Amino acid sequence: MGQWVNRLFHGDSLEVISQLMEELRGRVRLIYIDPPFYTGTDYSIRRKKGGSAAAAPAVAETATFSDRWDGGLGEYISFLRERLEPIREILSETGSLWLHLDWHVSHYAKVMADEIFGRRNFVNEIIWRRTNSPKAQSVGLGSQHDTILLYARDRAKFRLKPIYREHDAHSLRPYRYRDERGRFRLIEIEAHGIQRSASRRQFEWRGRTAPYLYKRETLEKWWREGLIYRSRNGRYSKKQYLDETRGVPVSDLWLDIPPLQGASAEYTGFLTQKPAALLRRIIECASDPGDIVADFFVGSGTTAVVAQELGRPWVACDISEAALVTTQERLLSVSDSTQFTVIDLMARDEEESSIVC
Ligand SMILES: C[S@@+](CC[C@H](N)C(=O)[O-])C[C@H]1O[C@@H](n2cnc3c(N)ncnc32)[C@H](O)[C@@H]1O
Repeated sequence: MGQWVNRLFHGDSLEVISQLMEELRGRVRLIYIDPPFYTGTDYSIRRKKGGSAAAAPAVAETATFSDRWDGGLGEYISFLRERLEPIREILSETGSLWLHLDWHVSHYAKVMADEIFGRRNFVNEIIWRRTNSPKAQSVGLGSQHDTILLYARDRAKFRLKPIYREHDAHSLRPYRYRDERGRFRLIEIEAHGIQRSASRRQFEWRGRTAPYLYKRETLEKWWREGLIYRSRNGRYSKKQYLDETRGVPVSDLWLDIPPLQGASAEYTGFLTQKPAALLRRIIECASDPGDIVADFFVGSGTTAVVAQELGRPWVACDISEAALVTTQERLLSVSDSTQFTVIDLMARDEEESSIVC
């Protein structure tokens, strides 16, 4: 890569992606977008002003974006389609798109995105628990999760790095055995239930005949390594020591990234701001330092800030001026050496301004 300059655009995502097409075609490793969700709501940023022991702070509210669509769902889906088509073009062969939505349109968007990326390149539907206290509804159930649709540019060339989360009380419960090497749990080495098929042959190993899941040589190796546990009734299992695990493998159900609270240090007052921990997980597992990361609905700047912290070159844009201001403020607080250029496509005179800090 030549001399890369991180860029923050003020403008419509479609125009920004078109401007970048020639330069970025096939080069972006990861694109995360968190577009409007078709909620029919106007959003704002709320900031506290003043406040003292005698008086609570006043709240200043600035409009950020409107998620209303006169043309209904059809207009919304066309809006998204127009942007996903060029987004696919700028992804690298090993790249991926993370499309963050919720119940309002995620299913319609999935059908449309399948057409653009090809169904075979759909990788995961990630469920992220975005609130711990869903609102009670007069009809139906309170919603508690967002949906992130993950598409690979080319599934055959795409790999996610395995992700682990820390153990909690629930995941530690099976580790109830202990020996001189430490705490361990038992893993089945015999086929049971649906794993047990007519084609799985039983064989005798160390006095017990069973439909083993592993070859005799593997079992012998584990035996020599002291990893086989024999229960009182003669059944064998494999020991898995707690201090040899990297934590709990993360699935497509993300319950461990807490929602942003009003009082949290990273919260800017931008109502649809996502937690940095969410973007950290996504960027770390689907890109490497030096890979270009993009977000064309950057809002309060979460993706750009996390990409900056993780050493990924980035490009971001938003149509809202308040979003741009918030993103710039957050970026400038990342480190003294943060460098990026702000390009304003909305200014009438098409002025281009640079901030180098
Ligand atoms: C849900 S918010 C993104 C929040 C962001 N992920 C964060 O952590 O702060 C959606 C953003 O999309 C922006 N937006 C809406 N329409 C846009 C368009 N056509 N082009 C660029 N940005 C747009 C809005 O201004 C808003 O900031």
